[in-house]
Amino acid sequence: MKRGKSTVDPAPPSTLFLFGAHGDLVKRLLMPALYNLARDGLLDTDLHIVGVDHNQVSDQEFADRLHDFILEQARAKDPEGAEKAIDPKVWATLAERISYITGDFTDDETYQTIGRKIQDTGIGNAVFYLATSPRFFREVSRRLGKAGLLYEKPQAYRRVVVEKPFGSDLPSAEGLNHDLLQDMSEAQIYRIDHYLGKETVQNIMVSRFSNGIFEAFWNNHYIDHVQITAAETVGVEGRGNFYDSIGALRDMVPNHLFQLLAMVAMEPPAAFGADAVRGEKAKVIGAIRPWTRQEALANSVRAQYAAGNGQPGYLEEPKVDPASQTETYVALKVMVDNWRWVGVPFYLRTGKRLAVRDTEIAICFKQAPYAQFRDTEVARLKPNYLTIQIQPNEGIFFDLQAKRPGPALVMEDVKLGFAYKDYFQMAPSTGYETLIYDCLTGDQTLFQRADNIENGWRAVQPFIDAWAEAGEVHAYPAGSEGPEAADQLLARDGRKWHSLR
Ligand code: BG6
Repeated sequence: MKRGKSTVDPAPPSTLFLFGAHGDLVKRLLMPALYNLARDGLLDTDLHIVGVDHNQVSDQEFADRLHDFILEQARAKDPEGAEKAIDPKVWATLAERISYITGDFTDDETYQTIGRKIQDTGIGNAVFYLATSPRFFREVSRRLGKAGLLYEKPQAYRRVVVEKPFGSDLPSAEGLNHDLLQDMSEAQIYRIDHYLGKETVQNIMVSRFSNGIFEAFWNNHYIDHVQITAAETVGVEGRGNFYDSIGALRDMVPNHLFQLLAMVAMEPPAAFGADAVRGEKAKVIGAIRPWTRQEALANSVRAQYAAGNGQPGYLEEPKVDPASQTETYVALKVMVDNWRWVGVPFYLRTGKRLAVRDTEIAICFKQAPYAQFRDTEVARLKPNYLTIQIQPNEGIFFDLQAKRPGPALVMEDVKLGFAYKDYFQMAPSTGYETLIYDCLTGDQTLFQRADNIENGWRAVQPFIDAWAEAGEVHAYPAGSEGPEAADQLLARDGRKWHSLR
């Protein structure tokens, strides 16, 4: 999507260097996304894709591996339809321009080879995509800078895409920003949060600001509280090593959940451009109240999954320390201290091995007065929820109360809804298509600016600090809706979680 434009042209010629070419991200997400862009005619025929990694493989072997992996993935999803997943003509034009550089990220020679590659293609534009372990982010950007590869000229942009995790707390994120900015300008840095590539996440902004009706009640006069949930059924998926040093808070909150919060809570930007949108996001994330350590403890719950539903507990997962205290679930209450949201709690929760996969934002409206219903069978009127369903069952749904037909006054829950599948045919996509396209065309709207990242870490830092000193790690059975302590976090305020099922 080109912000504010309803049609798009193919991205300009460029060379895309994929550092960490043998990693999971490249084969599982980036290459399928590049294929989808090529299929949709959104790549220039002069887009060159160059894998960079330490393994010794030829250009052809590298391209073949990527091809086979896309096919394998498609087969896993749909054994019969897999052959149609790759159009041989589209693949052939893409494969012609795939090559590979064997190189050590810490060796200047690698960067000399990259420089020569750019000269050989005769295309000035280049994107350096850091799909590597975070420990190489600085190293690669420093050496790119030293080799003069980040120097921009007309018709020769130089952009660096930095994957998640961007730091592991506020000081490390500030440090990384500082170091990257030694070698390039903010306009050259594309910090990825893949949630922003999701259609349903982009649609929050479009729905809010293109439908005048929402603005009238989008504030603390009508909204009681907001719940943001990212529930996953998967466990740590073979990433025990990485996850055990990170945990649910760092993995999901300052990035994905805060991006959802920002989309729902930001003020209307003056335009759908990178500066305006990211400026509003920085403001709203910056308005999250910094809890004291004690408040942070009182307003958070962390937990770890135990065995349940035939699935092993977290501590039995491969490459996880059997005595680990790392949380796989977190529930938080945060307050946004600005005029629109003062007094409206935002409850956030995310966890692995929960009962269902469900990423949603549930906006709970204030209770209607009860007076007219005193003599009816209604035990308690339910509040209205507007639910923005990010995945799966993408759509927007509104829960209402209605009178069941008949002589008695009996209330029933009903739903108004817009489901994507009823209106749009969505071509298979990974969410990375938009982000890669935007980077190639120079649109930073859906990428995190330095201040967005730092404000996110600033808001979670009190939880990190408080948990380092105190606080219990609760347990929840795999396959459940999370720990009881998370229910109490809301019950204490007289509220309940929107059911996951
Ligand atoms: C990643 C996290 O950033 O997001 C994973 O590292 C998590 O732990 C994933 O599973 C969730 O993404 P999605 O798109 O499946 O909601």
